[in-house]
Amino acid sequence: MDRLTAVLCSRNPHKARELERLLPGWTIEPLERGDYPPETGATYYENARIKAEFGRGNTSGWVLAEDSGLEVEALGGRPGVLSARYAPEGAPAVEKLLGELAHVEDRRARYVSELVLRAPDGSELRGTGTLEGRIADEAAGSEGFGYDPIFVPDGEEQTVAELGNDWKERSSHRARAAHALLAALSASTPEETPRVR
Ligand code: IMP
Repeated sequence: MDRLTAVLCSRNPHKARELERLLPGWTIEPLERGDYPPETGATYYENARIKAEFGRGNTSGWVLAEDSGLEVEALGGRPGVLSARYAPEGAPAVEKLLGELAHVEDRRARYVSELVLRAPDGSELRGTGTLEGRIADEAAGSEGFGYDPIFVPDGEEQTVAELGNDWKERSSHRARAAHALLAALSASTPEETPRVR
């Protein structure tokens, strides 16, 4: 089976690396553009579609788009679809969130990932994945990105940044979304596309 190539509509290099590992048989090429449209959707799916639509204007091949975020129970689901804009990526966002949750007992949170794949003929497939967990009291670990140093998945004692990239490849919200997408893809065109591993 020949490898297929999808252009990934994302400015986040971490996502391209994670998705390439998660989608066997696919080469993921990040679309490096400085003029991505604003993510004005009310849902992850709407935002993923905005990115996919932008990608379709830049290539005639397969287009992959992803929108994801962190929903914190005690904050009514914030930052949610606004996760990337909650604060600059990395330590400031982590510190801001820990500050907002200081003295808050309910630490429950979930990651959500929504993937949209557009075929060259314009048809669309999607895959959704969630990961339940809680926000740690302090940051720990060095792998992953974004909120990973303070997110402890249910059933684990360490943060995602401590559990590492191999754990993310098996169990993250993005891994679950990728598996759902690959299953949808196999069901739609089993003979033409790489199969779910
Ligand atoms: P997007 O590029 O608009 O989808 O931004 C998603 C934002 O959600 C990222 O910038 C991170 O802040 C957060 N996020 C999504 N997935 C992850 C993850 O796997 N680890 C840590 N943070 C994540």
